[in-house]
Amino acid sequence: MKKVILTGDRPTGKLHLGHYVGSLQNRLKMQADPNNHIFVMIADQQALTDNAKTPEKVQQSVTEVALDYLAVGLDPERTTIFIQSQIPQLPELTMYYLNLVTMARLQRNPTVKSEIQEKGFNESIPAGFFMYPVSQAADITAFKATHVPVGEDQRPMLEQTREIARDFNRIYGTETLVEPDIILPPKGHGRLVGVDGKGKMSKSLNNGIYLSDSEDEIQKKVMSMYTDPNHIRVEDPGQIEGNVVFTYLDVFDEDKEKVQELKDHYQKGGLGDVKIKRYLNEVLQARLKPIRERREEYAKDRDAVLEMLKSGSEKAERVAAETLAEVKAAMGINYF
Ligand code: TRP
Repeated sequence: MKKVILTGDRPTGKLHLGHYVGSLQNRLKMQADPNNHIFVMIADQQALTDNAKTPEKVQQSVTEVALDYLAVGLDPERTTIFIQSQIPQLPELTMYYLNLVTMARLQRNPTVKSEIQEKGFNESIPAGFFMYPVSQAADITAFKATHVPVGEDQRPMLEQTREIARDFNRIYGTETLVEPDIILPPKGHGRLVGVDGKGKMSKSLNNGIYLSDSEDEIQKKVMSMYTDPNHIRVEDPGQIEGNVVFTYLDVFDEDKEKVQELKDHYQKGGLGDVKIKRYLNEVLQARLKPIRERREEYAKDRDAVLEMLKSGSEKAERVAAETLAEVKAAMGINYF
């Protein structure tokens, strides 16, 4: 069956291994299936809902994120990569959807609630931020996406999108909008822990390894990785659980037998942290080198990257315009 897949990222910085494991790898797999039509959106408007005073950060990140996409192998010939703000039909759809959503419903969104806490908005929540789930429903329905691959934290957005699509179709007696299904990351590919072992890899926690990091940066981060704080002497038995080096080996090393051997040895005692870190460093360097090199190659011609984004945005706009025309017709506001 043909699937229309839409997903996106907020451009607030470069992409890291957490994005690679949690979403990019999965996108590459989906891209390989000719039955899939994939749209990947750089959600700059959504990023602006809490970065309105630093638009340059968002603007610069758009190209960085695009470079990360190209570096890992997203192929603009097969995957439509576009910039949210360049599709005027999205805010237009948002306006109509907002009338179908209550303030109380917006207030109940658990992801938005915890973001409000994290960002310390208190009583001064930007209205645009507060209603971004409705704008996200526009992103998804504009392309009649049947499937949306996102992390667990995005489940409330998908639920809200489904509600809006269902209500719209019922109220206006139409079948224009498609209720999308969520695709969660495969087991074990949820959000990757950061190098400090404290929380998920994220820019704000400064615990990430970036796809664009140099060989030296990667090595430094690996050598200072959180392991087992009670593993003081090499002879001591060490703990695997919560030990970031082993978490990463599980994710990134294809040689599962070797990983098992290292784990056994580490738990028994006699295997030092420096040794396992050096080994992980080799594994990660091998994985990231081709990505970094491709990224550097694309970064030499940023105009070409912008050109790619422009043509993706034009393609996306044509699709969104068709949906918007149907939406307006269903509402009877297609006057002329
Ligand atoms: N909210 C998503 C995030 O924070 C980004 C996003 C915006 C998105 N619009 C989308 C994801 C539409 C999927 C579909 O990561």
